[in-house]
Amino acid sequence: MAKNWTPSSWRDLPIQQVPDYPDADALVATEARLKKFPPLVFAGEARRLQTALGRVADGQGFLLQGGDCAESFAEHEADNIRDFFRVFLQMAVVLTFGGQQPVVKVGRIAGQFAKPRSSNIEKMGDVELPSYRGDIINGIDFDEKSRIPDPERQIMAYRQSAATLNLLRAFAQGGYANLDNAHQWMLGFIKDSPQAERYQALADRISETMEFMKAIGITPDSNPSLRETDFFTSHEALLLGYEEALTRTDSTSGDYYATSGHMIWIGDRTRQPDHAHVEFCRGIKNPVGLKCGPSLDPEELIRLIDILNPANEAGRLTLIARFGHEKVADHLPKLIRAVEREGKKVVWSCDPMHGNTISLNGYKTRPFERVLSEVESFFQIHRAEGTHPGGIHIEMTGKDVTECTGGARAISADDLSDRYHTHCDPRLNATQAVELAFLVAELLKGGRTSEKRVAVNS
Ligand code: TRP
Ligand code: MN
Repeated sequence: MAKNWTPSSWRDLPIQQVPDYPDADALVATEARLKKFPPLVFAGEARRLQTALGRVADGQGFLLQGGDCAESFAEHEADNIRDFFRVFLQMAVVLTFGGQQPVVKVGRIAGQFAKPRSSNIEKMGDVELPSYRGDIINGIDFDEKSRIPDPERQIMAYRQSAATLNLLRAFAQGGYANLDNAHQWMLGFIKDSPQAERYQALADRISETMEFMKAIGITPDSNPSLRETDFFTSHEALLLGYEEALTRTDSTSGDYYATSGHMIWIGDRTRQPDHAHVEFCRGIKNPVGLKCGPSLDPEELIRLIDILNPANEAGRLTLIARFGHEKVADHLPKLIRAVEREGKKVVWSCDPMHGNTISLNGYKTRPFERVLSEVESFFQIHRAEGTHPGGIHIEMTGKDVTECTGGARAISADDLSDRYHTHCDPRLNATQAVELAFLVAELLKGGRTSEKRVAVNS
């Protein structure tokens, strides 16, 4: 039934969010260069992620996906990557313990450079310029020259992704991701938290468990699964020329894989079933995410699932719900029911960021209470429907920024200007991110039943 797919078949279809490159020949030449570059990830890793996500789809695991809204060329320091990774692992420990299930760790990192925009132009006073579309396309500075799409930026994004991924792999496999470390960092977080009492009980139980394991000889030295972790990368597959250039045939299976990251997702603005982004994603074998916003109705969702996951493989498709704290109850239940009625295997994840953006004192921000409220509703709805609240997808950083209001160490509207560094949307800072993990752990614990428990392995 489906027409033939090739890595370039998307080019014949309507497409949204395309940058206007002034020099078409330079773009073609860049894509030709990228085609010869080594893949960033390899097919076996993407399959491993799909297996892990398959368990989540079956109710036996939790997906933690997070990172910058947009990575930038300006912020490519090792410290940034390290601080992000530390916070991410602290969250993972808390969630693993809270849910007593494996946590699948997927960063929005090492490739998250292209941004969809609601308008093609940006206005400041009387000046109108093309919108910033992410560092892989043009520059953020508000001047004419920066805003011209430049293909060379794709090469820079590729190289930055390779370097970031290299460090992440070293961290994940080289000892830094040791469970003892993550546990100690987490204890450090609690010590400084005004909400310490609330988190202490869970932290104490983790500490006891670690002591017990040590007492019986299960230590990071003796056990690689305590020393290492699987960390995967993901980004929005927005700039399809770049994605196509990094799409390769896997020699063992003969299948096509996007090798720009382990998982890629389709944004809420580019998920038209008969358009280019869905066409591209249907043909690659990686795990794929689909952002689901308020304009998605159940019939269209089922149509998209049939296109993107015709064989109904568990772990292939993650539905990332992003409705907003007030809308989630109106939209999510009918989508869940349609998916259940049709027997579709999906991971349900909650993006509590993108539907909760407001403007305060001239800053785009997200109140932490609303972020939390959307996550809580997401859990309640799944519990009521008898389905698995399978994950969260958040915008976060390891730094102490002031971009989202609220949290235990409350950031006020007036604080926003202190350290507002994001290149795009406001991110949870390190404290808010770990705090969210504790609150989600409570939700996971609340819904846990003994028969759902499975062993935690690497
Ligand atoms: N390998 C296991 C896992 O990834 C245990 C583990 C090792 C771990 N280091 C970790 C868990 C850091 C969370 C955080 O789940
Ligand atoms: Mn964003």
